[in-house]
Amino acid sequence: MRNVQWMTSMLMASVVYTGGAYAADVASAVPITVAAASEVQATVLSDADGQALLKKNNCFACHTMDKKQVGPGFKDVAAKYRGQPDSEAALIAKVTKGGKGVWGSMSMPPQSAKPEDVDAMVKFILSRQ
Ligand code: HEC
Repeated sequence: MRNVQWMTSMLMASVVYTGGAYAADVASAVPITVAAASEVQATVLSDADGQALLKKNNCFACHTMDKKQVGPGFKDVAAKYRGQPDSEAALIAKVTKGGKGVWGSMSMPPQSAKPEDVDAMVKFILSRQ
């Protein structure tokens, strides 16, 4: 019985402690998060980092960089939208929601990647030559 009480008070103590640490983390993380988000928007990932992110999010299950597979090659996507500044937002929405009809009869299912990852991947794809 003593043991149970001891365990309970230790558990309470750690919950309180974690709560405090979390609050402190959030307070200090907010300005950093804002800085990181604007950095992502400004920079395009390197070839290695961009392909690693696409791989991590399973995009290569249906795409390659160079050739049509189930979906279009990413270099073909870049070529199609070159010089069209509005295409970035449209492609971010398309990757998130899925869609069909632009490249053939196959549809792309909605992708569950994190919004900042989708943003970075679309920027990367559009930057390919
Ligand atoms: C299950 C297969 C599949 C997966 C997985 C997949 N795609 Fe697609 N993707 C497609 C198909 C099929 C199309 C062509 C859709 C069309 O013709 O409108 C496409 C089209 C695209 C386009 C061009 C859209 C347009 O309207 O021109 C982009 C950009 C794209 N995919 C990015 C991604 C990214 C990024 C991922 C990973 C997060 C991904 N895809 C994962 C099948 C897939």
